[in-house]
Amino acid sequence: MKIDGTAYRMIRREAGTGKVMTFDQTLLPHRLVPIELASMEDAARAILTMQVRGAPLIGATAAYGLALALQRDASDANLAKAIEHLARQRPTAINLKWALDEVRKAVEALPPDARVAAAFDAAGRLCDDDVETCRRIGEHGLGIIREIAEKKGPGERLEVLTHCNAGWLACVDWGTATAPIYMAHDAGIPLHVWVDETRPRNQGAALTAFELGAHGVPHTVIADNAGGHLMQHAQVDMVIVGTDRVTANGDVANKIGTYLKALAAADNGVPFYVALPHSTIDWTIADGFHIPIEERSPDEVLKMTGRLADGTMASVEVAAPGSGAANPAFDVTPARLVTGLITERGIAKASREGLLSLYPERRARGRGAI
Ligand code: MRU
Repeated sequence: MKIDGTAYRMIRREAGTGKVMTFDQTLLPHRLVPIELASMEDAARAILTMQVRGAPLIGATAAYGLALALQRDASDANLAKAIEHLARQRPTAINLKWALDEVRKAVEALPPDARVAAAFDAAGRLCDDDVETCRRIGEHGLGIIREIAEKKGPGERLEVLTHCNAGWLACVDWGTATAPIYMAHDAGIPLHVWVDETRPRNQGAALTAFELGAHGVPHTVIADNAGGHLMQHAQVDMVIVGTDRVTANGDVANKIGTYLKALAAADNGVPFYVALPHSTIDWTIADGFHIPIEERSPDEVLKMTGRLADGTMASVEVAAPGSGAANPAFDVTPARLVTGLITERGIAKASREGLLSLYPERRARGRGAI
């Protein structure tokens, strides 16, 4: 995607220098600052501190992190140690484990001196695959947007609501939930996006609003609690969100608050779509109650970070002094509340059969055999 006419990928290996470069998302939307990931420790820290975040980008960063670890020491022991270290940085997005598995499979049978190049190649392929996957998600989602827009009538603006950031900042390019939005906008379908601010870290207000603005997509940031009201007043035609893990039965883990939007959508007859790449499906888990939910620092709830008038960043206290806070970072939306899953292979019902209809190769393997 482009910012001021320049095309960016969220993570890439520079051709001449071999440096692995990404952007520090903790500084957005105020500053777009490139950072180098020079070691596995840098990659792990970037994931943990959310300089990079979003399920596909966490996976891509871990893949490069593993290649960087092997650059230092390509032994079997270090391969296992690096995988274990990177995998434990964030628990909910399954893309992290998936990406590490992909790189491991690409290198483990090779002699140590062939592993580094193979690992960087695998990480690069995984990134290219993510871009193409998101592009296809966009094409399939565009079909749904067209259908809903046509029902509204010519020239009438389609109202889309999204939660968190499942855009190109969360992936390598395009995004998952945002790819159909960008394609619809580019195709001249008039649309407007309600962007949930997404407390406590404000990925909607800071990141999704930034991306949509950079692409010229009309949007409005709303408080997380406003979505239900807008739906009751027929101001939302569809919801599209991303996800960190979809279980074999179609349950969906995504940023905390997604479940409440799905409930409000169901109560108001608003279609609720989830966009995801194949790398987000966890075929080993029967249902969403088994997904590990990340607990983050209470400080994210008790404080807010932003830019002051003089341009400096500051953190301010927003809760009563002495109060504690709980901060579950994700919730699970049961499959029954999901209208459809938008994948790179097409649209599926959120159910075991729905998913297997798009990924029939999984049928033969059975549960737990991935
Ligand atoms: O905590 P974050 O910012 O990593 O959470 C991100 C989300 O919840 C996204 O919706 C999800 O990863 C999908 S990204 C295409």
